[in-house]
Amino acid sequence: MKTKILNENNIGDAVSILKNSGVVVFPTETVYGIGACINRPEAIKKIYDIKGRPSDNPLIVHLADRSWVYSYAEVVSDQAEMLMDKFWPGPLSIIFKKKNINDSITAGLNTVALRCPSDRIANKLITELGQPIAAPSANISGRPSSTRSEHSMTLYGKVDAILIGDHSKYGLESTVVDLSGDSPRLLRPGAITFEELREIIPNIKKSFTKDDSLKSPGLRYKHYSPESEVIIISGTVNRIKEFIKNNKENAIFFVSDEYYSDLYKNEVIRFSPQGDQFIAAHNLFDFLIKYDKKYDKIYFTGIEETGIGLAIMDRLLRASDFTILEV
Ligand code: TXA
Ligand code: MG
Repeated sequence: MKTKILNENNIGDAVSILKNSGVVVFPTETVYGIGACINRPEAIKKIYDIKGRPSDNPLIVHLADRSWVYSYAEVVSDQAEMLMDKFWPGPLSIIFKKKNINDSITAGLNTVALRCPSDRIANKLITELGQPIAAPSANISGRPSSTRSEHSMTLYGKVDAILIGDHSKYGLESTVVDLSGDSPRLLRPGAITFEELREIIPNIKKSFTKDDSLKSPGLRYKHYSPESEVIIISGTVNRIKEFIKNNKENAIFFVSDEYYSDLYKNEVIRFSPQGDQFIAAHNLFDFLIKYDKKYDKIYFTGIEETGIGLAIMDRLLRASDFTILEV
């Protein structure tokens, strides 16, 4: 297939492709998505085929405006209204009881994840299409998500178009909150943090550990993994320093704090400069993709699981298949 490379000036071409059951990669503020119009079931099926995505893993539906929610959510609770007031448009997906959404998008579930992206190009695309876009992250299933248009070139020849935008602002997939059941649950941590959610929904529970995977389809599968091995190292600063000195061959180290500054070099990189975890999140997938196959092993030191650190550690744990090396 010939893949068209488009930009903000020819969004109209992307809209025509979507109307004709095509599949388009597009930027969002979280990660790049691979999208299809929700009313084109053949295009939805293509997304699953292109990604090699298990058919029981539902897609997020992207809206141009909050007012569209009432067309696709059966019930919109006060809690949902409060979350939307505070965090939409932005990196938060909310799961509702669904209506007017084809089963092919939701893997047969009676719920749907809805999100209203803040990215200018994403919003323009959905607004001009006039219908929601169903979109998972623009990567082959199991691999790190694309946060730059260059990353999504792995889909070149497989999709109808790639719409070029900026390096994704947040660099991690949206926070996913389930409000469809009796008790509110955080299914995937992201840039909207657990602490921020708890201010609005005090009884929200974290629900994304390995044991939660029965409830949340996306948690069942290995994720975010490059071909090189990702390993999280844990231990005292002195032991980690020793370990780095003795294990440099074919390895790169991402360290999370200033204690390692005497070691900073090409192969020892601080991934949260000045301790800024938003920068760490923004660069995480870019680093995983950039250094994949250049080194056998990609090591990370752990970071504190507060704020966006919770989401960073979630992605790292999955990328490493939950391997933590005590040194
Ligand atoms: O930031 C994002 O959310 C990006 C951009 C493109 O918007 N999209 C994204 O999609 O990350 P994906 O498919 O890679 O992840 C969607 C996650 C999966 O873990 C999936 O299982 C969960 O959302 N999900 C979607 N619909 C659901 C539902 N009805 N019930 C439970 N989980 C759902
Ligand atoms: Mg994904």
